[in-house]
Amino acid sequence: MSVENRQSKLYSSQTNEELVAYYSEWAKEYDRELVGDCNYIAPQQAVKVLSQFVPQNARILDAGCGTGLVGEVLHQNGYSNLEGMDISAEMLAQARQKNVYTLLHQKVMGEPLDFPSDSFDAITIVGVFTYGHAPSSSFDELIRICKPKGYVIFTMRMDFYEQSDFSQKLTELEEDSKCKLVEISDQFSPLSLSKPGGYYQLWVYQVS
Ligand SMILES: C[S@@+](CC[C@H](N)C(=O)[O-])C[C@H]1O[C@@H](n2cnc3c(N)ncnc32)[C@H](O)[C@@H]1O
Repeated sequence: MSVENRQSKLYSSQTNEELVAYYSEWAKEYDRELVGDCNYIAPQQAVKVLSQFVPQNARILDAGCGTGLVGEVLHQNGYSNLEGMDISAEMLAQARQKNVYTLLHQKVMGEPLDFPSDSFDAITIVGVFTYGHAPSSSFDELIRICKPKGYVIFTMRMDFYEQSDFSQKLTELEEDSKCKLVEISDQFSPLSLSKPGGYYQLWVYQVS
């Protein structure tokens, strides 16, 4: 199946169960189709930005880690205290084979996350904030489990930002002094060999 077709199924998901079913179907082919066929570069872009803010000994949670592509790039860049979290057992099974995470957790963003407060120095969320995926309310728990002065670094599709409630949520979090925006990257196409995915930007927030 083409990445375009996969994306249109995923983006129309109405429930987490539907989304999980689509990812479990895709898990084994995900890396070949996205990296091999489309040259998916969002993990490299995210780690390039993260490395400007986060030291190599940081404890990092890769939320929505999928098959572990972000963990793999983090590891190649000297980060080794890495944990992954995803809603999909099949995606986590692929991530496990990369041998770059010390722990993998099956948990759902948008629901309470049973990590203690102030657990992580940085949290990455790459390719997750888009249509049919994790809700903007995910930030409440992500900020709670990130240490004060830690970083929450995520990609967002630009068209999704315009059309969703994410802009309102991020404004409210800043107004409530929960975090502050540190950087927004230039736009880039995450799939450099084809462009079915729209443009992304990388956002860096520092937790208060
Ligand atoms: C497009 S993949 C991105 C995976 C990886 N970060 C990457 O860049 O290759 C999106 C991932 O987010 C996960 N996901 C979607 N909604 C989620 C949620 N509410 N909680 C946790 N994981 C979620 C999916 O299972 C999937 O593995």
